[in-house]
Amino acid sequence: MKLNIAVLPGDGIGPEVTAQAVKVLKAIAMEFNHVFTFKKALIGACAIDKTGNPLPEETISICEEADAILFGAIGHTKYNNDTESTVRPEQGLLGLRKTFDLYTNIRPVIAYDDLLYKSSLKIKQIRGTDLLIYRELTGGIYFGDKFLSADGNHASDTCAYSRFEIERIAHQAFKAAQSRKRKLTLVDKANVLASSKLWRKVVLELSPQYPDVELNCIYIDNAAMQLIINPKQFDVILTENMFGDILSEEASVIVGSIGLLASASIGDKYVMFEPIHGAYTKAANKGIANPIASILSAALLLDHFGLTEEASLIRTGVDKSLQLHITTPDLNTKYDHITTTKVGDFIEDFINNPNETNLNFTNIHLGQSTII
Ligand code: IPM
Ligand code: MN
Repeated sequence: MKLNIAVLPGDGIGPEVTAQAVKVLKAIAMEFNHVFTFKKALIGACAIDKTGNPLPEETISICEEADAILFGAIGHTKYNNDTESTVRPEQGLLGLRKTFDLYTNIRPVIAYDDLLYKSSLKIKQIRGTDLLIYRELTGGIYFGDKFLSADGNHASDTCAYSRFEIERIAHQAFKAAQSRKRKLTLVDKANVLASSKLWRKVVLELSPQYPDVELNCIYIDNAAMQLIINPKQFDVILTENMFGDILSEEASVIVGSIGLLASASIGDKYVMFEPIHGAYTKAANKGIANPIASILSAALLLDHFGLTEEASLIRTGVDKSLQLHITTPDLNTKYDHITTTKVGDFIEDFINNPNETNLNFTNIHLGQSTII
């Protein structure tokens, strides 16, 4: 298969983790005789520094011409307490999601047996967690009208949704549930918010079209608690933009590190794959950033194009790296100095030589590879 991939490394740790995902995709192309081409483009704080625009026109046209977008991370600490600037790195990512109408963001949350002990939660509660968060990505309070009074003393954001915006992602979430455990949970705040009432009404109305899917509707405050006390009760969670942002970051506690969570942002015409983590500016260029979320985003990209064997080879490589503790310091208590690049190298090696023994892979890590 031929795929043109637009690579948008972005800021902070984005470039180093994305480089590992590209490395892994190149290994897959080699092993399976695909032709993947990669075209880099600027986005975020680095794009502001170079062009004054967090989402330059050139980036938009590179993405338009690509089959898929691979995104890294966005943001810079220098903007953290800057409430005045009208140009911010995040506008690059939000602009991209909106421009390409990437309305369905899918965030898988899977607890790895080898990492259960890394979670601050109790092992018996999280073992076996396997859920998908369907986060609406192009509407709600992120994109509603914003207001700041001239005297600077009053501000508001509007959470607006249309029936159309809710229906299109709800259909996707119902279908995903049909192919899994057939349970869909709508998370909203329909006891208070008008926009949530519309979500609940529309999703309840669609439910009879999916009689094999059991639909539950729960409030976000309850969901935030349920997610960490009993994550196994969930199969597919459907929610609006900001609730999905918060819930998915909370869900990373189950998995042990936010550096593991990948996502797919799907529209009717364009697709993008992005880790759920941010730019983590402080960690940039230290070799400590976990590349697995980016590598697993590449696996989601392959899944999207039907390359499931290829995607599962990547996932087996990731599993292997976790089993052998070939991981960055956020996860590693066994070995020192396993860098971002080393994790990528290991998974690349695994793809090239999937049948080697554990011993050989451990040797690779120790720099004594027996593979010629
Ligand atoms: C995410 C991020 C973004 C979001 C930020 C960087 C704008 O937190 O993808 O979860 O809020 O959507
Ligand atoms: Mn987030």
